[in-house]
Amino acid sequence: MRIDVDLASDTVTRPTADMRRFMCEAEVGDEQKFEDPTVNLLCEMVAELLGKEAAVFLPSGTMCNEIALRVHARPGEEVIAHHTAHPINSETGGPAALAGVNVRAIDGPCGQFDAAAVEAAVRPSSRYAPRTRLLWVEQTSNHGGGSVWSLARLEAVTAVARRHGLATHMDGARLMNAVVARGVSARDYAAFFDSAWIDFTKGLGAPVGAALAGSRAFIEEAWRCKQQMGGAMRQAGIIAAGGVYALRHHVKRLAEDHANARRLAEGLAGLPGVKLDPSSIETNIVFFELTGALTAPVAVERLLARGVRMGASGARRIRAVTHLDVDAVGIERALAVARGVFTS
Ligand SMILES: Cc1ncc(COP(=O)(O)O)c(C=O)c1O
Repeated sequence: MRIDVDLASDTVTRPTADMRRFMCEAEVGDEQKFEDPTVNLLCEMVAELLGKEAAVFLPSGTMCNEIALRVHARPGEEVIAHHTAHPINSETGGPAALAGVNVRAIDGPCGQFDAAAVEAAVRPSSRYAPRTRLLWVEQTSNHGGGSVWSLARLEAVTAVARRHGLATHMDGARLMNAVVARGVSARDYAAFFDSAWIDFTKGLGAPVGAALAGSRAFIEEAWRCKQQMGGAMRQAGIIAAGGVYALRHHVKRLAEDHANARRLAEGLAGLPGVKLDPSSIETNIVFFELTGALTAPVAVERLLARGVRMGASGARRIRAVTHLDVDAVGIERALAVARGVFTS
């Protein structure tokens, strides 16, 4: 099946020729022995970016989340997270299987919750209840439609957490999208959290890897989990170089992805049977609802048959994500195809 415009996810990007060249030429060493200069450089860059003492390079964002859970919480303890959070829905039960933690899923619009919701979710001390241990935030919120948490809201929810002695973690799979959309530094967003990470394989366009940051003691523990889970690598500089290149060259351009997402949303909103408010699009993720007879799985099948890939996210909900490998011309092409599918 030929895909002309792939809006299924921002994870579908392929490394550019310049990124590949940079990766090929990376200096390497034994990562497990801290002898890989490129991995070391990337960890220093991420620690500096997020304002933390140290960082560890990991194969994926999923491993960042799962390791953070294990370091912050003991089996039987509880983490508070929005019900759309990645570990709840897309990490194969990892919080239960790997960290042994309970998840208390809370609600709120656009993948976000407020301080009152956190306050209500913290368990009073009781022999019968799990001990609340950790507050979890996803910046931007994937299933919240790429929504950006404001500094004020982050400050408010983490203040409640701190008052109750909870640790705080930020899943920053798309943190750099928030940074570019709001002009707020990654360090300012991360300042409210004990641990935070960024993914190189989403909008940043690298083929592998993510980096988790926190205090030196936190990263030492994270390294123990990495080793135990088989995430420790050898000449990983080859892949870490993709992250170094991405941080140097692919951050500012995320603004193009946001403009493309807005244009896509404006075009889709004008089609019959599509419910979408383009002004709600803050970054690179566009969700829309179908209101007519057409269901989401059938619609995405018809789009795909015409070379445009989007994802069905429920019976009537579709997700489209913009990224490095889709330009403005691709967006117009996707809209032309969507017009055909939704008006036929
Ligand atoms: C919000 C969020 N967190 C974590 C992840 C996991 O990242 P990875 O695919 O690098 O494991 C994703 C991936 O889509 C995500 O969207």
